[in-house]
Amino acid sequence: MESPITKSDIDLQKMREVKRLKSVEDRRVGSEVFDRITLKTLYKLANQGYIHLLNGAISTGKEANVFKGVDDHGKIVAVKIYRVTTSDFKKMQYYIQGDPRFNVRSNSKRQLINNWVLKEFKNLNRAYEAGVRVPQPIIAKNNILIMEFIGDSDGTPARLMRQSQISNPQYVVDKIIDYIKKLYNDAELVHGDLSGFNILMEDDEPVIIDLSQGMVVDHPLSDELLNRDIENLIKDFKKMGIEISKDDIKRKIMDL
Ligand SMILES: Nc1ncnc2c1ncn2[C@@H]1O[C@H](COP(=O)(O)OP(=O)(O)O)[C@@H](O)[C@H]1O
Ligand SMILES: [Mg+2]
Repeated sequence: MESPITKSDIDLQKMREVKRLKSVEDRRVGSEVFDRITLKTLYKLANQGYIHLLNGAISTGKEANVFKGVDDHGKIVAVKIYRVTTSDFKKMQYYIQGDPRFNVRSNSKRQLINNWVLKEFKNLNRAYEAGVRVPQPIIAKNNILIMEFIGDSDGTPARLMRQSQISNPQYVVDKIIDYIKKLYNDAELVHGDLSGFNILMEDDEPVIIDLSQGMVVDHPLSDELLNRDIENLIKDFKKMGIEISKDDIKRKIMDL
């Protein structure tokens, strides 16, 4: 597998060394992602064969970093690591409360993040099973989620829909609406943060990502979130030259 290896690569087989180094670096800027528990979790995942190398950051978001990883078979995977220090716990609590899949009485921030990651994993699984094109989830452990890498075989990550030139807008719009419909009716989920910023373009095919906020449809907030998702998408569709009304989209989703 061809992927450039840089000085910042972390060979997880040499994790003991990394661990020692990190204990010195821990309090320095830049190592905030790799706190002790995160390193331990990475080490465990490495021992289990899920990743042996982390090379290259794909994204540094508000709450999570996404890295390119390589598994024991040389396959590239995406590794999303939530930072315990900068996570928005209020938001997490807001979205996780009332989800019957989680019992979140604990006040522990770590516990909340672990549940958040598990929620994203479960949502991805449900979406995947329902035939929605999402990264196939591989494993969730503590604050780390490993999933299928969306991009070229040479390791170039796919671009965001928002930043892509779409050559087949009508097809892409129809596909996305069909995915929301499958999410709603089959996976019984509402994405909750859907827009051109959480859709990747794998060649000409849209791939839905970032399902951590996803909610079960019988959650009291799900209608509000669905409406917001649709409104956001309408703006993206418009930029792509496709005009479609909220009612039309809803009709398609509800199959009326
Ligand atoms: N499975 C994946 N394959 C390739 N790139 C990914 C994958 N998942 C996320 N990314 C990249 O990382 C970015 C951030 O991921 P995302 O799940 O949206 O987290 P957040 O928005 O919370 O930071 C995405 O915009 C995308 O560019
Ligand atoms: Mg995102």
